[in-house]
This record gives sequence, structure tokens and C-alpha cells, in this order.
Amino acid sequence: MKVLGFESSCDETGVALIEVPERGAPKLLGQALHSQIAMHQAYGGVVPELASRDHIRRVLPLTREVLDQAGVALNEIDVIAYTQGPGLAGALLVGAGVAVSLAAALGRPTLGIHHLEGHLLSPFLSADAPEFPFVALLVSGGHTQLMRVDEVGAYEILGETIDDAAGEAFDKSAKLLGLPYPGGPHLARLAEQGDATQFDLPRPLLHSGKPDFSFAGLKTAVLTQVKKLGDAPSEQQRADLAAATQAAIVEVLVKKSLLALKQTGLKRLVVAGGVGANSLLRQQLNTACAKRQLRVHYPELSLCTDNGAMIAMAAALRLQRGMADLQPAGGFEVRPR
Ligand code: KG4
Ligand code: ZN
Repeated sequence: MKVLGFESSCDETGVALIEVPERGAPKLLGQALHSQIAMHQAYGGVVPELASRDHIRRVLPLTREVLDQAGVALNEIDVIAYTQGPGLAGALLVGAGVAVSLAAALGRPTLGIHHLEGHLLSPFLSADAPEFPFVALLVSGGHTQLMRVDEVGAYEILGETIDDAAGEAFDKSAKLLGLPYPGGPHLARLAEQGDATQFDLPRPLLHSGKPDFSFAGLKTAVLTQVKKLGDAPSEQQRADLAAATQAAIVEVLVKKSLLALKQTGLKRLVVAGGVGANSLLRQQLNTACAKRQLRVHYPELSLCTDNGAMIAMAAALRLQRGMADLQPAGGFEVRPR
């Protein structure tokens, strides 16, 4: 069985094709991705209307690219999956509309996928796929959650952020430091030259005893420090503050992940979502988990942020388990929230 997957929830247009055997690992046959980051950078964030229009421009050429890569014809596709939500409504409608139209033309069913399930299952795209059950740390621009994952579709939220997401904390702090959107990777790069001990930043809820998060206070603390530094902070001061910010976010993510592992008694951690690309987070999780004989899995770096492959993979894993809510081609809805 072949599944085509579309991702268009925010500022990346992703398309991918996966071969789904009855048993064993689904195989990625081709994928293509267009990032709109450069287009939105001038505005300091994603402009929803521009995002929708660009998805429209990109989605069919990317689909053609994927089919050519895989050497597969359109009518060989069996199921068409798309991100149903959460995300920007107009952006979601592009992927959903194309998926449903293609499905109607080909007489095939569609499958709406939850964007976060895509992130959660993205480590199954790597050769070293995790085994169930595991604890998942889902850290993206919009979400920060710890989950217990017993099987595909069996998810229990152990804890989540009560305000900002970890990616948001990176992005908002980066903006205060004058870095371009999306700030996470820029802040991480600046932090490489910095000394985290030069600033004392808060780690909200660190000792709450629960796997929950709060990052709004950190952003406020960064703002206070930026104001103190005045109009012309030195490059070193900016780097030090970036390093301190990153250290605070990473320490909270690591401690809370360990807490969730301890409380569930599970031995495996899966990290997913854009912030999972952060190298300090990976280093510290690797060290902490090795010390406690815990295993930690990550998606490939390029698959941490939004992409079509994770949507096609989530669809593939659901299909293999008979858990796919297939819809006959026809109407569709998106779920922005
Ligand atoms: O998962 P994702 O692509 O989109 C959402 O579904 O939100 O995550 C994007 C987030 C942004 O906040 C971005 O700044 C952050 O992931 N990010 C990083 C890094 N790479 C991406 N944050 C810290 N360090 C990185 N290397
Ligand atoms: Zn995402």
C-alpha cells in the first residue's frame, strides 16, 4: 500500500510518499519540503495569509517532485493523508483541499492526521525506531508536553505547559535579543559563544514535583536583562544572555523528562518537535539518560521541524494497525485548534 502525505499547518509545505507493508517498517519512498521562513522573516513571524498563498503555489510542484523521486505514478497511490490540525486554518485548508481533490480524482480515501501525532511518531522514520511504550517529550513552537505513549493512538498527557511553549520561549527571547525569526536556532548559535553563568534566570515550576512547564516568566526575566543592558549591549553580553536562556529552557526540559520517566517507570524517551533539534538539549538528555540506563530516541535533525514524512508515517502506522479512520473522497474539515 502507498500513502501520500501532506503537511501545511504553518510555514512549511511538506509532501511525502511511504510504502506500507502489512508488517515491518514502513519505507519512505520520497519527500519534498519547502520552508517559507525567508518569506516571513521580514515580518518577524508567520503571516497567515501569505502562508496560505505560498502553500498553494508550492504544493503541486512538490507533489510532482515526490512522485518523480519515487518513480511512482499518481494512480498507484492508495491513501491520501493530510494534517487536519492544529495549525493556521487557511494553511491547513490548502493541504486538506489538495488531498481531498486528489482523492476524489483518483477514487481513493483520505485520512486526516493530528499534527502532533505526526511529530510524536517521526522517530519511526529513522533506522533506530523506538519500541512501545515510551515517554515522549513533544517540544515545538506551539506545544510543550510530556506524554505516555503505549501504542499508536494510545496517548496520555502527563504534563504540559501552562503558558508559553518551549519553542515560543526560544523565539520570544531571541526576538528580544534582536535575532531573526524563528529565533530558536539563531539563539542556539549565538549561545555557543556565551557563558551561561553570567546571568541568573528563573526555572519556573522546576521543583513542582509534576511534569508540567511554565515559560512565560523566563521571557519576562530575559526582557528585564535586555533592558538593563541598554541600547548597545556588547556581542559577548548578548551571547551570554542567549546561553543563559538556552540553559534555563534546557534544564527544565531535561529535569521534567527525567521526572516523567521516573513516575511512569518507563525506560525509553522519545523527543520530537522543532526544539528537539537543539544540540544542548540532545547533549544533556544523552548524558542524563546514559547515566540512568535509559534510552533516548530523536527524529533525524531534518525531521524535527514540520515535514510531510511524519504525516505520511503516522498514517502508515495507523493503517498497519487497522486504526485509520478512512474517509471516502468528498467533504472535509480542518481543526485549527
Ligand atoms: O515543530 P516545529 O517545526 O513547528 C511547530 O509545530 O511549532 O517547531 C518550530 C520551533 C520554533 O519555535 C523554533 O525556534 C524551534 O522549533 N527550533 C529550535 C531549534 N530548531 C528549531 N529551538 C531551539 N534550538 C534549535 N536548534
Ligand atoms: Zn510542528
